[in-house]
Amino acid sequence: MVNQVNSGDLEINSSLLTVINDLHSQYKSLSEGAVANYIPELAKVNPDLFSICIVSVDGQDYKVGDWEQFFTIQSISKVFAYGLALEDHGRNYILTRVGVEPTGDAFNAIILDEQSKRPYNPMVNAGAIATTSLIKGSAPTERLNRMLEMFRRYIGRDVFVDISVFTSERSTGHRNRAMAHLMLNFGMIDQNIEQALDLYFQQCAVLVNCRDLAVMAATLANRGINPITKERAIDKRYIKDILSVMYTCGMYNFAGEWAYKIGIPAKSGICGGIIAVVPNKMGIGVFSPPLDARGNSVRGVKVCEELSQRLSLHLFDCSSENGKLGTEE
Ligand code: DON
Repeated sequence: MVNQVNSGDLEINSSLLTVINDLHSQYKSLSEGAVANYIPELAKVNPDLFSICIVSVDGQDYKVGDWEQFFTIQSISKVFAYGLALEDHGRNYILTRVGVEPTGDAFNAIILDEQSKRPYNPMVNAGAIATTSLIKGSAPTERLNRMLEMFRRYIGRDVFVDISVFTSERSTGHRNRAMAHLMLNFGMIDQNIEQALDLYFQQCAVLVNCRDLAVMAATLANRGINPITKERAIDKRYIKDILSVMYTCGMYNFAGEWAYKIGIPAKSGICGGIIAVVPNKMGIGVFSPPLDARGNSVRGVKVCEELSQRLSLHLFDCSSENGKLGTEE
């Protein structure tokens, strides 16, 4: 059983590896979707890059494809910035600034809750900008360093910002700038909005690879402790907040169908990455740049759908043991 994976369980280890190897071969030739190009630097990515990684909560890793290839984390960063903001201010205060309702709209929709004027949730751009504006620190450098230090704990090594992607988004991100102005107008952002936007663009431009994504997801699955380094990355009391908004809002206007079919908390980014968290069992990372119309990786969605079926990962699946390798009708 996958939920009992340990280093001595060679049969299971090879089964998981076989599953991801199979999925990699099965979807390698799928050529649907298009790479994001509204941030000019991102349009340069090779669309054929493809990797799948799983890290279990006991620290085993399974990798296939271009898992060493670095790319910018983009929206997947929103999950972790939300965790840092929760640690900085607590749940009640954060709820006054950012809601937890799915929007059913695109990730870059310029909308706020009509009554409260809050952005709908921390996984869409407006909510993520508001969340990032709340990160504590006396100056921009201190806030950036706290953000990078937070990513270091989840990943297990020092992290860096891709300056070309950061500046590319900073000079073209007028839609995000419009959202920030709207939130400033309603008092949902206090600080200098250019500083908040810079930090948001920097967090989106943090460089990761597919294995890093799986380790970060596994850290959330492992109640906030990085399963490789054993370092705590986030206070465990906020794991349920993070996983709940990932579950309901992480895949944007595909979140409902994702919850229904795949049934595990997840987050995508326009880099083509997806993380998925199977609580107490494993973290999944997939990377493949071509996106569907909602901004989710085409191969990434397919791979997660198959993984969920083959490993019976759906959280509400009572017909088979959750996390057990098996077949589904
Ligand atoms: O703010 C933006 O538009 C990008 N930095 C991140 C968007 C993103 O990854 C949306 N994900 N599907």
